[in-house]
Amino acid sequence: MTLSDEKKIIIAVDGYSSCGKSTVAKEIARQLNYVFIDSGAMYRAVTLFCLRNGLIVDGAVNLPALQDKLSSISVSFIYNPATSHNDVCLNGGNVEQEIRQLAVAQHVSQVAAIAGVRQLLVAQQQEMGRSKGIVMDGRDIGTVVFPEAELKIFMTADTRIRALRRYDEMIAKNEPVNFEEILKNITERDRYDETRAESPLRRAKDAIVLDNSIMTREEQFKWVLEKVEERIKKL
Ligand code: CDP
Repeated sequence: MTLSDEKKIIIAVDGYSSCGKSTVAKEIARQLNYVFIDSGAMYRAVTLFCLRNGLIVDGAVNLPALQDKLSSISVSFIYNPATSHNDVCLNGGNVEQEIRQLAVAQHVSQVAAIAGVRQLLVAQQQEMGRSKGIVMDGRDIGTVVFPEAELKIFMTADTRIRALRRYDEMIAKNEPVNFEEILKNITERDRYDETRAESPLRRAKDAIVLDNSIMTREEQFKWVLEKVEERIKKL
């Protein structure tokens, strides 16, 4: 009997920007044969919609115009056999690459602070977790989306280390970025995410903290899998 044959649970992975939540969540989902959902990709897709439709003017979101268009935004996922993961789609078009650009990162926290946007996406996320067997990463998964999740991990790491990881990731994709700009973006997003009125980023009381500043990926996977095993034994 392997872990993936056991009773299925919901695993919520929350934490700060660029601390490798998706990397961990993806691998854990693969090993358990669970669905992996990157909830940040959904907020990024809505932000891309705003950018494409001129809804961000002089750095500010045109709220009434966005409210008007909310019902015409559809965010979905499509399986990508090349990566074995789900790519995010905006109104049917695959935008997985485009949403990772700095232009999107620079506005996503503003868009994610809007109540109407959160209501739309949270309802969809809760629906995805109805039959459990899911690992979802984000900022409010353990607090708002799945407060009843059986396992909650709260990830963090030193800010400069996080910025360096994101820098290396973007350089590897040939994105024209500079380190200071990324550091600034991460610091600002963390501050914005932690201080917003709507579902601010905070550790759920029952979340276990994983500070991965000096851990390898393999060490993190092992650490989380041990927690999964312990949790499933207690069911
Ligand atoms: O990859 P990174 O950790 O930098 O960010 P992300 O997970 O792609 O999320 C992008 C942004 O979406 C965050 O900075 C938050 O502002 C927002 N977000 C949120 O508000 N709630 C979530 N559940 C996920 C993301």
